Amino acid sequence: MKGSAKISLLFQLSLLLLSVAATSSGAAFDFPGKVGAWPCPPEDELVPCTCYADDDLNLFLGCQELESISDLKAVFTASFQFKKFFRLQINDCNFTEGTLTKDIFEGFTFREVIMFNNKLNEVEVGIFSDSVQDLTFFEFSDPIPSFPLSNLESFKELRELVVDINCDQFPTLTSDSVLSFSLHCGGTNVTMETSQLNMNALTTLHLHDSNLISIGPENFESQSLNILTLNGNYLEEFDPEVLKFSSLLKLDLSDNLLTDMPFITGMAPKGTVRIADNKNLKQLSLDTTMPLLDADVTIHAEGVSLSCDCNLRWLLDTDGTDLLINKITVNVDCEHEEDFSDIRDILDKFC
Ligand SMILES: *[C@@H]1O[C@H](CO)[C@@H](O)[C@H](O)[C@H]1NC(C)=O
Ligand SMILES: *[C@@H]1O[C@H](CO)[C@@H](O)[C@H](O)[C@H]1NC(C)=O
Repeated sequence: MKGSAKISLLFQLSLLLLSVAATSSGAAFDFPGKVGAWPCPPEDELVPCTCYADDDLNLFLGCQELESISDLKAVFTASFQFKKFFRLQINDCNFTEGTLTKDIFEGFTFREVIMFNNKLNEVEVGIFSDSVQDLTFFEFSDPIPSFPLSNLESFKELRELVVDINCDQFPTLTSDSVLSFSLHCGGTNVTMETSQLNMNALTTLHLHDSNLISIGPENFESQSLNILTLNGNYLEEFDPEVLKFSSLLKLDLSDNLLTDMPFITGMAPKGTVRIADNKNLKQLSLDTTMPLLDADVTIHAEGVSLSCDCNLRWLLDTDGTDLLINKITVNVDCEHEEDFSDIRDILDKFC
């Protein structure tokens, strides 16, 4: 019986423990503080929002299930004795009608702002501008078409940014302070110009599952990135100039439309490149793959099946008992053959 014998080659995987960027999940509003305690305003003036104060007098304000933007406005006109908050969280409200205007938060400052699932359609330019010296963390998720912090550059203390919107196009963003940026663009397919990302301090960039169809034309060298995730997009190929880094530890290109290993330089020693689950990936070219292996980079290619052809030849060592490379997990689609020496014999005959 003729069948395609899939040989699973699992070789000495160097396990690398990477500190994956820990993004605060804006899930639950759960603070150990005292509800309504001084210096919060009287509880009944804030309903249905809640104010908490912790032992260090950090103030937390949470609003859930408000029915309109005017309800939110009403809360912020309550008699707040102090307007310097540690965290504001607004989620699961119905803000379908109208625009979230900047006057609502005028005079208030926040160190952290978390907003998600509020059915927002529009955010006014200049929102949270009274917090430019305070805001360190901003998380936003709603299908608005443009970036919520329009004057991003002026937020001097902002370190972490997690944004999930309906980008019409990749936004042009400038910041000298942001260390970690996660952008998810829902909706239409997006083209990213690397020149649109002017974030000098950036070490972690998550652009996975973001409908990206191309990235270019410049490279990422100007950022000192440690982690770049581009998995779950529609990327087919990269210009050889684009995937150039200064010292990248982790690059995730899995679940895209790649047909070959792209040209990648500037990986840190012991770095990892994930090209798993690229269904169109049938070959790993010597000239793009070998330099990575020479630089001690681990390649993860689970769910990739290389075709049984002459491109495979360089991957097998001369006596045909092993893969020349020892850090790839990959399938090879060769009829019948279950042994590398047999595959080697076939390739030696035809290639
Ligand atoms: C949200 O508000 C809009 C407009 O006020 C209303 O038509 C809609 O029914 C509301 N949706 C929910 C789920 O309450
Ligand atoms: C986005 O691009 C991919 C790949 O080119 C295509 O299959 C998909 O249909 C496109 N989606 C939209 C919404 O245009």
